[in-house]
Amino acid sequence: MTGKLQEEYRDAILQNSEESLIFGPKGEYWGIISQNNEDFIFPSPVNLSGWLDDTADWLGEGTSILEIGPGKAVLAGKVLSGKRNAKNYFIADISEGILNYAREQLGQMQSPIKTHFIRGDLNTKNPLREIKAGSLDRVILVNVFGYLDPDIALSNIHRLLPRGGLLRLTVGDHEAFTRSEDYDPNINRQYVRGRKFHADAKIEPLGYTVSADGKKVPFYGYRRNYSKEEIETLLDKNGFATEQFKVVVIPKELWLKVRSLQSNFRLNQEEEKLLEKYGGRPIWDIIARKK
Ligand SMILES: C[S@@+](CC[C@H](N)C(=O)[O-])C[C@H]1O[C@@H](n2cnc3c(N)ncnc32)[C@H](O)[C@@H]1O
Repeated sequence: MTGKLQEEYRDAILQNSEESLIFGPKGEYWGIISQNNEDFIFPSPVNLSGWLDDTADWLGEGTSILEIGPGKAVLAGKVLSGKRNAKNYFIADISEGILNYAREQLGQMQSPIKTHFIRGDLNTKNPLREIKAGSLDRVILVNVFGYLDPDIALSNIHRLLPRGGLLRLTVGDHEAFTRSEDYDPNINRQYVRGRKFHADAKIEPLGYTVSADGKKVPFYGYRRNYSKEEIETLLDKNGFATEQFKVVVIPKELWLKVRSLQSNFRLNQEEEKLLEKYGGRPIWDIIARKK
């Protein structure tokens, strides 16, 4: 990314502390997405039926489970609709809009599993106080970790699990992350530029970037991805041992559909090549055990 404006904003961005750089968009950003039916979709493995079935079975084996960042509550719905070991399903999210949507979807289901909804920002200290320390068996975050401060989020999750408890994360692939047009190598982050309708919504951008064709494009937060080594090191230093590191491919059609809902959608050649190489966008599916 080039351009004078971009450089001015970068100076302003770099004056912020490293900590404030890492955060994803505010709750309002996600809340607005949850009110726009057609646009309420993410390039997520929850949209792949095989992955969804397997993951619901895996998660439902726990007695007390927590999902952070449910989006459309597709995974929660799958867990609640089957025969499971689970007794309690906690759902935590930064956005009241997302939680309301999940309440509506799951409230209509007849399930013996009790659901609990908690509003909490994982980037703050101890946001899930109402869950007793060490009381959960399994915690899952699907396409959420990139919006979080990894050390704060992992320490929040660490408190909730007993020794041997399991954490599952999906995280975008690092190779594709660094090739995308909204990636800025100077801050090692992607700008979250928002969906088209965000331009008319009453939500303040965090700043502006300049696109390759010279347009001023607002952004609402940052997204980070990690190399395999980086994420394993992060997990290890925060008290988790990696047990599984699998690749799941988000099919090209789904990925392009969601990207085209974003403002200033444009694929560069390198991204196109990667999409062809993998048949879509690879993401990592990681399981780690609390040490
Ligand atoms: C990209 S969506 C993924 C939704 C869903 N898991 C899926 O894969 O379809 C990110 C989700 O994380 C939530 N989220 C983002 N930042 C968060 C934070 N700091 N604390 C808690 N939840 C957050 C959003 O509200 C949203 O539900």
